[in-house]
Amino acid sequence: MPITSTETHVILTHPDDESTELQILKYGATVVSWKIHGEEQLWLLEGAKLDGLRPVRGGVPLVFPVFGKSSKAGFDQLPQHGFARNSEWDFLGVTSSDPPTVQLALSPEEANPDIYQKWGGEKEENYNFLVFVTVELGAQSMKMSVEVQNREPERVFNFNWLFHTYLRVPDIEDTLVTNLPGEKCYDQLLKESYEEKAPAVQFHQETDRIYINVDTKKDLQVVHLGKAIHTIKRDNLPDVVVWNPWIEKSKGMGDFEPKDGYKHMVCVEAGKVGEFVELGPMGIWKASQELKGGEDIKLHAV
Ligand code: BG6
Repeated sequence: MPITSTETHVILTHPDDESTELQILKYGATVVSWKIHGEEQLWLLEGAKLDGLRPVRGGVPLVFPVFGKSSKAGFDQLPQHGFARNSEWDFLGVTSSDPPTVQLALSPEEANPDIYQKWGGEKEENYNFLVFVTVELGAQSMKMSVEVQNREPERVFNFNWLFHTYLRVPDIEDTLVTNLPGEKCYDQLLKESYEEKAPAVQFHQETDRIYINVDTKKDLQVVHLGKAIHTIKRDNLPDVVVWNPWIEKSKGMGDFEPKDGYKHMVCVEAGKVGEFVELGPMGIWKASQELKGGEDIKLHAV
């Protein structure tokens, strides 16, 4: 069976190789595992509690309708990263069996009510919206597409979207993220904006940066000891967050186990977070990311 749905998970198996497999937790529509020929591509904290009581740390949590904490009116009451990752999504079913492809949806009916009602601040009625996420498992790739619909006949709403992807790496200190030199970046730790001067992003300390408006023709690559181990292709997702919590921040995160887990992960997160998407009445916004396993290194000109 290429696709199985249990009470909590949806599991996709590739028809050419049953060890190429993807698991989606319905809570958060979080991809929690993606294996190519048995080799895990994503990082998930050990003993992660996939109990639907807290957002998952690892895999690909979905960030909507706000990235981080925002002081902007309409977003200031929302917790970090919004409510998509804290809601039980509806599994709509299979849209193709080869390549195996499934769709999940989030609407006001499924959205975590305590958080969802805070989106938009003081207002007469909560926003009517629909989000579809489609996940496709290729032989060497995984594609995630999103469609956000504004179901309001008259009101505009604003949102951020981010695929908060935790990629597995053998050793963070031997890892680089390419194709970001020359890009404008906001450093969330220094609280400063600057232009990236380094030929590749290296990791020797806590890193938390938002690269703004990176041409989506530029593929991002995670390179380990001279070999591209992950490639991220983006469509309509101009901003890229690069994050590693390193030692102290990991210690401070209660759920972060083992404490040296930061050595084996890097988050390269494609999204629209520098500015909010403003979606008019009955409007539709679409975007996608495609992750690929090992590929040749491709350096884009600055
Ligand atoms: C990243 C942010 O996207 O997510 C970081 O840039 C944040 O600032 C990280 O610490 C993890 O967030 P959370 O809410 O899952 O701990």
